[in-house]
Amino acid sequence: MPFVGRARELCQLADALSRPPVVVLIEGEAGVGKTRLLHELTSHPLSTSHPLPACHPMPVGRAVLTGRCHPMRFPYGPIVEALRDACPPRELNPVTGALRPLLPEYAHLLPPAPPPLSDAHVERHRLFRGVLSLLEALCPVTLVVEDVHWVDPDTRELLSFLARCLPDTVGLVLTYRAEDLRHPVAEVLAHLPPHIDHAELSLAPLDPEETALLVKHLLPGSLPGSADLWPLTGGVPFAIEELARMLAEGREPGTPPALRDAVLLKLESLPLAARRIVQAAAVMSDPVCGKTLAGVAGVPAEQGERGLAEAVRRGLLREWTPGRYGLRQPLTRQAVCESITPTVRRRLNRRLDAPAEPQGTLSPREEQVVRLAADGLTNKEIAENLFLSPRTVEVHVANALHKLGLTSRRQLSR
Ligand SMILES: Nc1ncnc2c1ncn2[C@@H]1O[C@H](COP(=O)(O)OP(=O)(O)O)[C@@H](O)[C@H]1O
Ligand SMILES: [Mg+2]
Repeated sequence: MPFVGRARELCQLADALSRPPVVVLIEGEAGVGKTRLLHELTSHPLSTSHPLPACHPMPVGRAVLTGRCHPMRFPYGPIVEALRDACPPRELNPVTGALRPLLPEYAHLLPPAPPPLSDAHVERHRLFRGVLSLLEALCPVTLVVEDVHWVDPDTRELLSFLARCLPDTVGLVLTYRAEDLRHPVAEVLAHLPPHIDHAELSLAPLDPEETALLVKHLLPGSLPGSADLWPLTGGVPFAIEELARMLAEGREPGTPPALRDAVLLKLESLPLAARRIVQAAAVMSDPVCGKTLAGVAGVPAEQGERGLAEAVRRGLLREWTPGRYGLRQPLTRQAVCESITPTVRRRLNRRLDAPAEPQGTLSPREEQVVRLAADGLTNKEIAENLFLSPRTVEVHVANALHKLGLTSRRQLSR
């Protein structure tokens, strides 16, 4: 599969990993390309077609061990997954024997298990030292722990321990989504000894040109609707791939099922007030202020504020302009809209149409209509956009003009 953009990030990553001991944090929303970036760097480090001939390649022979955190948060799950793929050398420190129960795959290659200890804390420390010692013996090695937003408490502590004692031959890379992270990953970086370097990368979505390039690779013949997927996908490669697949299969460009499921799962996990705020934002076509959202969502102002903050933190909403919020991507908006039940939709619409207080200010629906009218849309176009009848739009326009003290809709765009 083609790989586009990310020249700077690849260089930064390669540069950081070429100088262990180092801890690298890679942050980015779901599907933005964290795993792919690492894959590009570690799977064909010396490829001549690599876009970065000038930057440091991964040193030849450096092993990369990868473990993923899982929503089920199995204790030490990612570390076991990563170490399972290691080829342990013959001469190992006896302390690595403590890993025998965790790594039955090659327990016979490890020293005998040390006798049990009466204190669980001491035993845990011995296990941590076992991991450290095995990594040291595997030199040089890069340990990648993916999706740390799902880290289990034991792995979290082990990672903090490893980061502080990182052997000179080891690089530690952690990837995560800030929006799903409950505990600050920065704690891994806290109290790093001065000789251990660290780097932080934040992956943004692809820009419009990169998006177009990826679409060109994915859909070589131009298909109807493939011209510009950037506004719909927000440049998130996963969304681009999914949408391109739908187009290639001749389907209408709707919300790709995988993306819809991810959005709905996230929406479900929000507290009710935050969920209602997101649904309210989805039925509005433009970004609006928090107060309007709370009003349309039908939640008290304070809960609305908390819900709004949570929805932004979880990456569903975005502050598009100061104080105005909307769904992060059109596809996300579409997915949320499609999931709203008829009853909830009726309630949202009722509040959207409710007259605003104090007298003279526009209702949220009138604001919506006015904004589209100011953009030059006809009543029919506004009606189609907002799923209203043209007659309703006509009434909203008339009321809004009256409240604003205007006599013609042309005055709206001034
Ligand atoms: N720069 C890129 N160029 C082309 N495809 C990409 C790029 N970044 C990510 N992808 C593709 O997008 C999808 C999601 O990327 P992934 O790395 O799994 O995201 P993340 O790990 O951030 O959730 C994958 O199929 C991946 O191959
Ligand atoms: Mg990933």
